Amino acid sequence: MKAFYSTAYGGPEVSHYGDFPDPSAGNGELLVEVKAVSLNPVDYKVKKGVARLMSGSKFPRIFGSDFAGVVREAGNGVTKFKPGDRVYGVTPVIWGKPGALAQLLAVDQKFVTAIPGQISFDEAASLPIAALTALNGLRKCRVSEGKAVLINGGTGGVGHFAIQIAKAKGAVVTATCSQGNAELARKLGADDTMGYSREELAKTGKKFDAIFDAYGMMDLEDVCRLLKRGGVYATTQIKPFLFLSSLPVQLVYGKKLTSSNVRSKPEDMEEMEKLFLDKKLYPVIENYFSLNHSAEAFELAEHGKPRGKIIIRI
Ligand SMILES: NC(=O)c1ccc[n+]([C@@H]2O[C@H](COP(=O)([O-])OP(=O)(O)OC[C@H]3O[C@@H](n4cnc5c(N)ncnc54)[C@H](OP(=O)(O)O)[C@@H]3O)[C@@H](O)[C@H]2O)c1
Repeated sequence: MKAFYSTAYGGPEVSHYGDFPDPSAGNGELLVEVKAVSLNPVDYKVKKGVARLMSGSKFPRIFGSDFAGVVREAGNGVTKFKPGDRVYGVTPVIWGKPGALAQLLAVDQKFVTAIPGQISFDEAASLPIAALTALNGLRKCRVSEGKAVLINGGTGGVGHFAIQIAKAKGAVVTATCSQGNAELARKLGADDTMGYSREELAKTGKKFDAIFDAYGMMDLEDVCRLLKRGGVYATTQIKPFLFLSSLPVQLVYGKKLTSSNVRSKPEDMEEMEKLFLDKKLYPVIENYFSLNHSAEAFELAEHGKPRGKIIIRI
């Protein structure tokens, strides 16, 4: 099969497009003909070796997590899927396991879901990590009807889904983004937009019931100032300092600081799919690449400030 693979941790200097041995479906696994992969920051971070303790030292190695495709073969013990099924999911690239940037992927059935309705492969691949992170973040922020919510990084992969989900929950949404993206943020449903620099955040007189930090790097002083008493802040980044600060901030100011990861329980997938099928959630996809141009897609994801999601078509 053709694959985009790495011969070591690193950037384009260790990346190759070419022939790679075909995988086969093991016990409980599906062999999927991959049709589309979407990139997330975790992909370029893991590819560069940020999580090498967990991701292992096996090379050559294929990366890429979010995928959509068609089942070619069902391994022993697979009960939920059959050849020809349209599926999508997140394949975990830990302990040396291969990712999805290839024509074929062997993946445990527990990481796979049937694509419902007429969702396209590009759309399905764009959803899992980013939309489920947004869904969980807003859940942790206890976002509901009438709540004032700030979404930081509102036009990135996670943020652009978060704006739409918060609106679907009836919240009053303010999104931060660069000036050029304000129109997109409003189109996605934001009631108001502002810049994300500390100077720009200092100008607003608004206070929020919840802050979902999709970008994940807000200064805690700004967070505490912008949050109402009883409000919740959730960030996509895991920061030791946040855990140390959360108890005193909760006790003194009655404000909750927490982190929020992607969560993909079956009920999360169902909620996300329902939002999509009810036309309350859609991916913004402005950049498509073919598998042999994956290196350019990684470059854009890491340095190009793309809006919404990047898709690599296989
Ligand atoms: N913990 C988890 O489970 C989990 C899951 C998914 C993602 N994440 C993390 O969440 C972060 C965001 O992911 P993503 O997919 O949304 O990334 P992304 O698509 O690369 O998003 C970047 C967005 O952030 C905005 N941005 C750039 N600098 C900013 C700043 N200083 N303050 C606020 N916003 C800024 C950009 O806005 P402009 O273009 O308008 O400048 C752009 O829209 C990443 O660090 C990722 O690793 C964590």
